[in-house]
Amino acid sequence: MMRRIHHVGIVVTRLRDAYRFYRDTLGLPLLKEAVIADQGVRAALLACGDTELELLEPLDATSGAARFLAKRGEGLHHLCFDTPDVTAALAALEAKHVALIDRVPRPGLAGQIAFLHPKACCGVLVELATPADESAAKASPVRLKRLVIGARDVKETSEVFRALFGFPEVMMNGGLRTMLAVGRGALLIAPSDEVGGIEGMVALSLLAEDFPGLMAAFDRAGTKCLRGTAEVTLGPAASHGVHLHISRYE
Ligand code: CO
Repeated sequence: MMRRIHHVGIVVTRLRDAYRFYRDTLGLPLLKEAVIADQGVRAALLACGDTELELLEPLDATSGAARFLAKRGEGLHHLCFDTPDVTAALAALEAKHVALIDRVPRPGLAGQIAFLHPKACCGVLVELATPADESAAKASPVRLKRLVIGARDVKETSEVFRALFGFPEVMMNGGLRTMLAVGRGALLIAPSDEVGGIEGMVALSLLAEDFPGLMAAFDRAGTKCLRGTAEVTLGPAASHGVHLHISRYE
């Protein structure tokens, strides 16, 4: 059983630079920062509603995060689901012959964690985590609404996520897209043709409690964005490789 999106992992060149946008401008509270030696990264978790964003700075050239950075640049790297018992979840997935990177959990920044092989989830690198402490979500000015995933075959990708993790489908009015609910958030699966040919994670949609306040923060920081009256879009250059769509919380 997956309770929520625990975090979305973003590879960045330097944590210090990424803090300027994610912590100082967007206003996400920094929860923890640590070196995770076996992943070859310095990682940080920032609160984003009942979800978190994990920023990963590669510390050596051989880590998975470093290879990702060299090949793709900064951007969305992995997706982590919160499960009450990661060991049991891995056993259940292994029984279904799902390709795993970790067959037993190991300590990570989010608690006891394990990675599935990207081929298990149609190109999305999925992590499972059982947090050490069930502390209440920390208040943040912005929260995650949904994660957009590009798929060569929307139906097939949705079925994979439903079969592996049991996420219910949210009714949508037609079209080629599918939405799966995960806790208070959602995965929006769209044809890769509609999202620049990308297969895998494409963009994050966030909700801002104080939209005018956030716009003022963007002004102060000189953040480049495309503004509407109730929504704003940030290109990868403004947000460390991540397409961000932020709308007014209703
Ligand atoms: Co992670």
